[in-house]
Amino acid sequence: KRLILIGPPGSGKGTQSPMIKNDNCLCHLATGDMLRAAVAAKTPLGMEAKKAMEAGALVSDEIVVGLIEENVKRPECRTGFVLDGFPRTVVQAQKLEEMLNKKGESIDKVLNFAVPDQLLVDRIVGRWVHPASGRSYHEKFAPPKVAGVDDVTGEPLVKRKDDNAETLKSRLSAFHAQTAPVIAYYKDKVVTIKADKPQAEVAAQVRKALD
Ligand code: AP5
Ligand code: ZN
Repeated sequence: KRLILIGPPGSGKGTQSPMIKNDNCLCHLATGDMLRAAVAAKTPLGMEAKKAMEAGALVSDEIVVGLIEENVKRPECRTGFVLDGFPRTVVQAQKLEEMLNKKGESIDKVLNFAVPDQLLVDRIVGRWVHPASGRSYHEKFAPPKVAGVDDVTGEPLVKRKDDNAETLKSRLSAFHAQTAPVIAYYKDKVVTIKADKPQAEVAAQVRKALD
C-alpha cells in the first residue's frame, strides 16, 4: 500500500503511524521527523530548514521533495509506505505524482485526520516526544509510564520547539492555506477520519478505512 496521512498539527498522524506501518508492512516516512533530525545534526539542509520550522511556516517544497525522493528508495519501502506530513502543498503532491508515475505506481489512499482547531492547542502544549524514535506522549491523554521518560528506551522526553500556543497559530494558518487544498487534489482517494475521538477509536476508524 501507498498511503498518505494529512491533518493539522496535533491531529494524531504520528501517533497512529506505528500501527498503520506494522499492520500493513510499510515504511513510515515523516518529513517533520527527518527535518528535526537534520536540524539536530546541524547539516546544511537542517540549518536552512530551522528558521521556517521554528516560525511554524513550511519549509521549501524543494527541500522536502528531495528528502522524500531519497528516503523512498530505502529497502523497507519496497512493500509500500505511509507518508506522514507530506505532501503539504499542491506542488509537493504533483511532484510525488511524477515520482510515482515514473515507476508505474500510485497512491492508494489518503487519510484525512479531521480535528477542529480549538481542540489542537491542548494536544500540542501537552505533548512530549522521544526524538530518536519519533514516539510521542501526552501529559494528560497518553502519559508515559514514568513521567519525562520514554517507555521503550528509558531515555528522557523533550518538548518540540514549535509546540507552543503562539507557533501553533502559524502552523494552523499554514495548514488551512497550503495543505487543505491537497485534500481536494486527491478527491476520491480521501477517507476522512474523525480524529477528535480517543486514540483507540481513531485507530479503529483507520483500520476500517484500510480494510
Ligand atoms: P510535523 O512534524 O509534520 O508537524 P505537524 O504537521 O505540525 O504535525 P504534528 O507532529 O504536530 O502532529 P501529529 O498529527 O503527528 O500529532 P501527534 O500524533 O504527535 O512538521 C513540523 C514542521 O516541519 C512544519 O511546521 C514545517 O515547518 C516542517 N515540515 C514538515 N513537513 C513538511 C512538508 N511536507 N513541507 C514543508 N514543511 C514541512 O499527536 C499530538 C499529541 O496529541 C500527542 O501528545 C499525542 O499523544 C496526543 N494525541 C494523539 N492522538 C490523540 C487522541 N486521539 N486523543 C487525545 N490525544 C491524542
Ligand atoms: Zn507528527
